[in-house]
Order: sequence, then C-alpha cells, then structure tokens
Amino acid sequence: MLIIFPRIILTLFSICDIIHIVMLNTDKNGDCMSKQNTNITVTSLLKKFPKANRGDLIPILQCVQEAEKFLSKNAMMEIGDFLKLPLSKVYGVATFYNQFKFHPPGKYQIQICRGTACHVEGSSTILAALISDLKINTGETTPDGLFSLEVVACIGACGLAPVMSINGEFFAKLTTEKIKHIIQDFRDKEASNE
Ligand code: FES
Repeated sequence: MLIIFPRIILTLFSICDIIHIVMLNTDKNGDCMSKQNTNITVTSLLKKFPKANRGDLIPILQCVQEAEKFLSKNAMMEIGDFLKLPLSKVYGVATFYNQFKFHPPGKYQIQICRGTACHVEGSSTILAALISDLKINTGETTPDGLFSLEVVACIGACGLAPVMSINGEFFAKLTTEKIKHIIQDFRDKEASNE
C-alpha cells in the first residue's frame, strides 16, 4: 500500500499534465485546420493564435502553408510582424525544414523518391532527367504553373524503385526514357484540354 499510493498520485499528476497540455494547445492553435478550403487570409489565420509567441513559429508556418499551399513572401512578412521576428529569422527557420514550400505548387506535383532503394536503383539519374526536361530545380514550379518538383524520402513503394508520384499516382521502374514519355503525356493532355 505504501508503494502503490505514491504511484496513484504520480499517475493522477501525469493525467492532469496531459489534459493541461491538450487544453493549452487547443487554446493557442484554435481551429486553424478546420478552416481550410474557405476564403481565408493570413491575417485571419493568425488571429487563431491569440497567445502565440516565437516558439509557435513552426505551427503557424504549417497552418498558413496548409491553407495557402505554400509560403509567400507576404505571408512570411506578416508572420514575422505577428511574432515580432525579423524576416531573416522566419526564413531561416522555414528553409531549414523540407516540408515548407516557397513557390505555389504546380498543377502536377511531382515527387521523386530519394530513399535508399530508389537511390540504389538510380533515382539521381531520374532526378537529373526531370530537372533537364522541366528546366526547374527541386522546390520550384515551371513558369506555366504546370509542374512542380520535389524530392521526398521513401514513399513506401520500394519494390517499384526507382519511383516517383505525380499528384499521388505512382510511376514505377523509371528510366530516363520513361520520364520523357510521362512528362510529354501530361503536356499533351494539357494541350488537348485548351
Ligand atoms: S526508397 Fe523509394 S519507395 Fe522506398
């Protein structure tokens, strides 16, 4: 009994801590995520973080990106003003993480896998072919807004390596020749829709 009683007290404290943390997060972050797909502005999103401080920079960046699909310079400036952080600091943190994008995504979002299996099977050659064909670097979008290119970690289809996905559709066992055809097919599809 002497041993069990302190454990019960500790458990109660832990439960209270968890409830407290959940309440704090809910209060700070509001219902940011539930407002997607509506006509919202960065200003209105920031109002959902009434008690935010500098430590909330990443959740705010995530929230704005989720709503706007990327982080524009204006959004970054507004976030910096809101948190009283210099723009260089906001960019410094955001550019550290792969998850943040600074260009609007293309209509077709290409994700090339650079996981181990894909790397062994030559994904760097595939990436080079994509860069050459699209004439953009990773993290960028073609000037016509059609394609954006990003490198991702294993996408869970190692048996298909090297693999990429375009808007969630997988393209397997890629070669530089296949890349040309796939990209051309998308271009043709767009041209026939015009
Ligand atoms: S390493 Fe590319 S899908 Fe797993």
